[in-house]
This record gives sequence, structure tokens and C-alpha cells, in this order.
Amino acid sequence: MTNAFFTLYQGLAREGPGEPADVAWAADIVGLKPDARICDAGCGSGADVPALLAAAPQGKVTAVDSHKPFIDELWMRIGPNPRVTAYAGNMAKLKGPFDLIWSAGALYFLGVTEGLVHWRPALAKGGMVAFSEPCWFSDAPSEGARAFWMEEYPAITDADGIDARIRAAGFETVAVRRISDTAWAAYYDALQARVAALRPGADAALTAVLDAAQTEIDLWPRAKADSGYLLSVVRPV
Ligand SMILES: C[S@@+](CC[C@H](N)C(=O)[O-])C[C@H]1O[C@@H](n2cnc3c(N)ncnc32)[C@H](O)[C@@H]1O
Repeated sequence: MTNAFFTLYQGLAREGPGEPADVAWAADIVGLKPDARICDAGCGSGADVPALLAAAPQGKVTAVDSHKPFIDELWMRIGPNPRVTAYAGNMAKLKGPFDLIWSAGALYFLGVTEGLVHWRPALAKGGMVAFSEPCWFSDAPSEGARAFWMEEYPAITDADGIDARIRAAGFETVAVRRISDTAWAAYYDALQARVAALRPGADAALTAVLDAAQTEIDLWPRAKADSGYLLSVVRPV
């Protein structure tokens, strides 16, 4: 991640759309025990860590992200907590066992199939993975939706396509739901405010990052009817 990119995201509540209700929903589907061992893979600055701790009140959360400054922000967000371990590292190399591997908007960096194959040995018996992934919600996405995702994630597919990638890893889908419009709006409202705040005095590198973020923000209203994030809870078969 470049410095300019990190400058944009520094201090934001999240680095992708999502909300605590998503974590609670997944924990319910998994049947998470109070003392569950959870991994937040690609945790960013730790937006979901409080909700994960709440989902397992006597449990432990291990948060990993490749970008060290996000881990520093995570600690600033939650403060010292004996139930949390956080480190900068590669989420392809998780050391379990975990009852839940949670990954909000990050698995696509590894690829759904490839990531699940990596994570399988890190799951405890009966453990599951919950991840959100870009998804078409229409058979004929609009031009605006295509323009948005061709820029963001050309490998986007629909729910059947995600399920095929899950099955190719030797997993099965237990339940799915969409990340809400409210979560997307909150994410882009915060990003828009950050772009506006950083414009004055931005150097060339930061200006390029701000322009790209503005394009994304401007395209989203044309994309959201036909696409978004699908949250899938999956388990090995
Ligand atoms: C879109 S952000 C989502 C962050 C957070 N889960 C959230 O929802 O706010 C994706 C995160 O994945 C991290 N990431 C990408 N590849 C990674 C890897 N191989 N290992 C660990 N983290 C990775 C990035 O640094 C980034 O923080």
C-alpha cells in the first residue's frame, strides 16, 4: 500500500463496507461459542474487532493485516485487551485453530478458492469461514455497474460464481446475505469527507489517489442496484 493510499484511509472507521450486524449474523449461523477462537483476516484498522469480541464474550480474536500502520491503528482503536492478538503478516499463512475465520472485503486479494484452500488447515473441527466478496446481483448489470467493477475488481462474478469458487476449494456454502445499502452509504460518506479534507495542499501522488477515490464514489450510485458485497458463511466438506 502506498503512503498516499494509506493517508486517505488513515483515521477512517473502516476500509470497506460492513457493519456490526453482519458479524452478529455470521456468529449466529456458525453457532459461535462464548469462548470461540476467531481470526479477523485482512482486518485493516480493526473495524470488526469490537463486534467479534462481542460475539464471543470469553473468546479470543487474532487480527492480521499485511499493512503494519493499520495494526497500529487497531491498537489505538481498541486499547490493550488480553483477548486480542494483532500482527502485521500474510493472511495466507494463518496458524489456527480457529472456530471462525472472518474476512471482510479481503479474501479477494488471495482469490476465493486459493484463500479457502490456504485457510482450511487453520480451521478447528466444525470451524467455518465468513467472508464478503464483490457480487453481481443482476443477470444484466448496467453499464455504470460494469464501469465501476471493471475498475475495482474485474474478476467479479455472481452468487453462483462465488459458490463455484467455494466448491472448488472443497467447501460448501451454509448461508449468504448482502451487505446493506446503509453500510455502503456510511463507507462512502466517510470516504467523501476524507477526500474533501485532504484536497487542499495535496501533492501529485495524493491527488492521484484522491481522484481515483472520487471516481469510485461517483460511480457507486450507478452500480449499487446491480452489485455489492455478498457475505458468505462456508465450511469444509
Ligand atoms: C478492503 S480492506 C478491508 C479491511 C477491513 N476488513 C474492513 O472491512 O475495514 C482489505 C485489507 O486486506 C489487507 N490485505 C490484503 N492482502 C493481504 C494479505 N495477503 N495478508 C494480510 N492482509 C492483506 C489490506 O492491507 C487491507 O487492509
